[in-house]
Amino acid sequence: MKLFLAAVMSAAVMCGGCSGNSLGHLPKRESVWNTLEEGEEDAAAANSSSNATSEFREINFILFSSDGNSSIGVDNAPALLDDATFNRSLRTVFFIHGYMDSKDSDSSKTVSSAFLRQGSFNVIVVDWSAYSGFPYLSALSNLPGASRAVADALNRMVQTGLPAESIWLTGHSLGAQLIGVASDTITFQIHQITGMDPAGPGFETPGVARLTRDAAELVEIVHTDAGVFGFNAPCGDVDIWPNGGTAVQPGCFLELEIGCSHLRSWMYFAEAVNHADAFPAVRCASWDDFRRGACPANGGDVVYMAHSHPGQNQTGNFYLTTNRASPFGKGQQGVTINA
Ligand SMILES: *[C@@H]1O[C@H](CO)[C@@H](O)[C@H](O)[C@H]1NC(C)=O
Ligand SMILES: *[C@@H]1O[C@H](CO)[C@@H](O)[C@H](O)[C@H]1NC(C)=O
Ligand SMILES: *[C@@H]1O[C@H](CO)[C@@H](O)[C@H](O)[C@H]1NC(C)=O
Ligand SMILES: *[C@@H]1O[C@H](CO)[C@@H](O)[C@H](O)[C@H]1NC(C)=O
Ligand SMILES: *[C@@H]1O[C@H](CO)[C@@H](O)[C@H](O)[C@H]1NC(C)=O
Repeated sequence: MKLFLAAVMSAAVMCGGCSGNSLGHLPKRESVWNTLEEGEEDAAAANSSSNATSEFREINFILFSSDGNSSIGVDNAPALLDDATFNRSLRTVFFIHGYMDSKDSDSSKTVSSAFLRQGSFNVIVVDWSAYSGFPYLSALSNLPGASRAVADALNRMVQTGLPAESIWLTGHSLGAQLIGVASDTITFQIHQITGMDPAGPGFETPGVARLTRDAAELVEIVHTDAGVFGFNAPCGDVDIWPNGGTAVQPGCFLELEIGCSHLRSWMYFAEAVNHADAFPAVRCASWDDFRRGACPANGGDVVYMAHSHPGQNQTGNFYLTTNRASPFGKGQQGVTINA
């Protein structure tokens, strides 16, 4: 209920100077007044959220499609649902890029093309590059406000008809942590989240808000640079650790190629979206046990990267090996140890 009012207030505030367009997405008058009666705490929530939305108004939601991309400001995100290229019978995946990236970065383009090629998704890239740039400490300090603005936009999209169960939130690095922080003010049950090597620096202190397994029905994590740019510990329902989940990932040149291992997370994930069988991972107590052959895939507990579903009941740490270059997925060979 709280954010319902927030949605109304922020749309009204943001549209002080614009003509009727976004107001077309507001609920009927009666429901607005019913909600208004819910009390003061709603009003306070409305004030702080309209502030996040207005302070972070340079965040854009871009609906990617093969027929062209539609970009819209965070304050008016629900209007994307009426875009000609938005297909209401498909699921909707959001991708949130990391530090110093944008909608034009390889991560955004590769992940979104993979979902478009797959064919059963609307794809929306959340571009928060106005706030995620150099230096890292500045991006980090913008993250709570940006998360709040993104959460409010998602709440309003759901209130204006986007089915919550059709949403899959994905993000790389700082974008993955943004989703975790946003989940605190998201008012619907998030179905599914994939965090691609969630950022480590700034999030490893106990008590700091970040992506955790409580954020959604299913939280899948792909670790590729744990302890360097990536978060150092399991943080999902399904934690997948390709090649042990740490630098140096195969094909990366020592530590000299800065960030190479960190970027592997979205490369693997994007490939997995289109190749369901390419990245099986087997549950095991540790990478060392996996490498010793202690967790054979046949009869073991196996998940497929990018193809987990809420309710599947498989949780824990999962391991596999990959190739050094694209195509990275090795299929069954990736979980077969020739000791
Ligand atoms: C919300 O903001 C308005 C105007 O900025 C102010 O008058 C009102 O008291 C605020 N409400 C709360 C609950 O903070
Ligand atoms: C919202 O922003 C205005 C102006 O920036 C500020 O005066 C006000 O205190 C803020 N309200 C809340 C609830 O943070
Ligand atoms: C959509 O935007 C991406 C990122 O800038 C770009 O690579 C792609 O070509 C655009 N798609 C279309 C159809 O214009
Ligand atoms: C929307 O998606 C459904 C399901 O894939 C498909 O049958 C339909 O043709 C799509 N509609 C448009 C306008 O592309
Ligand atoms: C998952 O586990 C719950 C509780 O243990 C059980 O009720 C449910 O049937 C299980 N679902 C599947 C798909 O195995």
